[in-house]
Amino acid sequence: MERIIKKLTETYGPSGREDRIREVIKEEVSKLADEIRTDYLGNLIVLKKGTASEQTKPVMLAAHMDEIGIMITHIDKEGFLRITNVGGLTPARLIGARFVLPSGQKGVVFHEPLKELKELDLEKMYLDIGAENQEEAKKHVTIGDIAVADEPMVSLGNRLIAKAMDDRIGCVVLIEALKKIKNNPNDIYFVFTTQEEVGIRGAKTSAFGLNPGLGIAVDVTMTGDTPEAKKMDVKLGGGAAIKVKDSSLITSPIVKDKMVEIAEKEKIKYQLEVLSRGGTDAGAINLTREGILAGCISIPCRYVHSPAEMVDKGDVEAAVKLLVKMIEEKIDF
Ligand code: CO
Ligand code: ZN
Repeated sequence: MERIIKKLTETYGPSGREDRIREVIKEEVSKLADEIRTDYLGNLIVLKKGTASEQTKPVMLAAHMDEIGIMITHIDKEGFLRITNVGGLTPARLIGARFVLPSGQKGVVFHEPLKELKELDLEKMYLDIGAENQEEAKKHVTIGDIAVADEPMVSLGNRLIAKAMDDRIGCVVLIEALKKIKNNPNDIYFVFTTQEEVGIRGAKTSAFGLNPGLGIAVDVTMTGDTPEAKKMDVKLGGGAAIKVKDSSLITSPIVKDKMVEIAEKEKIKYQLEVLSRGGTDAGAINLTREGILAGCISIPCRYVHSPAEMVDKGDVEAAVKLLVKMIEEKIDF
């Protein structure tokens, strides 16, 4: 599994520019799919046909392919690139971070001199690609290009650090579930969604199109297990997190209790997640048409939206197992 986590996290793919990561995922799933297509928003929709004789509504699984990034707004005379955010960024986490442009050109993010660090915001920051002047910079970048963090995945044993764990690790869970699933009564749509980080856009349109009876998102969640962290009962190594609530969704007890029941029965390590801020694709699916049952299996992740997001391999495996068991049950709507 480390191979595929490395491949997916190291691939370029900020919101609205998911072409490269979509191709990488397509390569991984094409042999396992009964049907595969890309819609207008760029969502990759992979069907695994159900085995039940009578037709029921399909199940939609969603993990977002996009990652946060910085968009180039201005190239100055000296060749420095001014930036704006694509998705939720904390400026302080970018100081000294290496970023890569779609051209492959790399650079470092830094800031103007400041009296105090709290004056820091993106307006005072820039990407330095080592260009000597504007003309040279323009060989590597145009206005509107999006750069993403440039960090290799690092294995620490049971734990892994990478950029874009949010939410490539969710994409890995979907791919691994697709490989493992043997007997799914319902049709299952594995949807690798776009533009989650800028307002859960891809999940919104794909859920409308597919009109599933149940939607399950797989995404990262925060943890409360680092020094002086805000109280939160989710920790690395504590198992798959079953979402109870975030800012976008209050999980229907029908879905949450089913997940808990399956985890108990199959002895899958799990924890309950209450996330006070943040949303996922499940929130968009839930509010589609006249309302769709939705839930979320989360991967606990430290340092979310930084260039070094950390997850535990055991949690990832637990999430795969829980997801597979969940979709192997016949679900009537
Ligand atoms: Co995110
Ligand atoms: Zn995410």
